[in-house]
Amino acid sequence: MTGQALDLDRVSKIYGAGGAKPVRAVDRLDMDVRAGEIVALLGSSGCGKTSTLRMIAGFEAVSEGSIRLGGREIHRLAPAKRGVAMAFEGYSLYPPLTVRENIAFALKAEKASPAEVDRRVAEIADLLDIGPILDRYPSGLSGGQQQRASLGRALIRRAALHLLDEPMGQLEPQLRTLLRGRIKFFVKEHGLTAILVTHDQTEANALADRIAVMEGGRLQQFDTPAALRDRPANMFTGTFIGEPPMNVFPASAALSDGRLRLSLPEETALDYPQAAFAPEVREAILRRGRVTLGVRPHAVRLDPAGAPAVVLANQWLGDQTHVAARFAGGVLVTVEHERARVAEGDGVGVAFAPEDLHVFDAETGDAISHGRLLA
Ligand SMILES: Nc1ncnc2c1ncn2[C@@H]1O[C@H](COP(=O)(O)OP(=O)(O)OP(=O)(O)O)[C@@H](O)[C@H]1O
Ligand SMILES: [Mg+2]
Repeated sequence: MTGQALDLDRVSKIYGAGGAKPVRAVDRLDMDVRAGEIVALLGSSGCGKTSTLRMIAGFEAVSEGSIRLGGREIHRLAPAKRGVAMAFEGYSLYPPLTVRENIAFALKAEKASPAEVDRRVAEIADLLDIGPILDRYPSGLSGGQQQRASLGRALIRRAALHLLDEPMGQLEPQLRTLLRGRIKFFVKEHGLTAILVTHDQTEANALADRIAVMEGGRLQQFDTPAALRDRPANMFTGTFIGEPPMNVFPASAALSDGRLRLSLPEETALDYPQAAFAPEVREAILRRGRVTLGVRPHAVRLDPAGAPAVVLANQWLGDQTHVAARFAGGVLVTVEHERARVAEGDGVGVAFAPEDLHVFDAETGDAISHGRLLA
């Protein structure tokens, strides 16, 4: 295995430190990436993803904290001494070199034989479908072609760590889907450690062993795709991960006639038998009193016996239907697998199974429970 373990220990990036308006772009980031693991960095624009990668690669100084790669402290080393290969957000190929020369150039430091260079360039060209453009110059290439050449230049190296900053942002959806499968196989086959920045949740889910969700320079949650979906640590990850986003409603919880009643705005009430919740979950919810309820669109059931809602829109997407409905003073979105036979203005009932309810603290946004489990 070539890939090494990476350990970020309370790493911060402060731009313009000491100036009038310092920007804390990355704030005490703790993250451990295992050898051979693929981690996706996911977060909205400006949350600090590129800054994090640039500090690891050595193109930006670390303001606070330390970085270890394969047990070795690297954050004071020159970029070339770190054993890190990076594909940049804005591809940066060498204009006087052809695509083949750009990619092969990355192997200079490895002192590979000409036959080895040819073999590996051919492997990368197959991987990224860039065989036909190998002998062309960057200036004559489309954005997507330049991006794949740049990705190839990073992936060809047997580095201790690969950093890929939005490596497929310029590609059309079909090609992205094809390449993400191939890239995952390639990374695993060669035992590489990789951090991938993406805006695309599907890509993060499909490629990554774990996903680090960032917001405002802070790590919100670092978990497997399944855990992010089933056990979001707070309202931010709950509503950020998942398409369409999780529905959320304010609620107050009380016991009424032996049932757990969740009262929502506009006199909407959800009643559950006490036994539907484990005692410790029930107690945690009742202790808070005021909570925020979250339910994923896929988990909402249209049920005539459910709480009343009025359909606002019915969108058939070709393989599923999104139904938006006015509910409890807000908007509730449901996903139906078949065409839902409801139209704007129809009154419907909606129901949520207790195991699909995410409950968050109304003040802090921290998760209290997920279905039958305490957070
Ligand atoms: N050289 C710089 N000087 C000052 N501020 C900077 C600098 N580079 C980035 N920033 C600021 O740091 C924050 C994080 O930027 P960064 O490029 O890391 O975000 P990002 O998550 O990669 O965003 P995107 O998804 O748009 O690429 C932003 O507020 C940005 O404006
Ligand atoms: Mg960026």
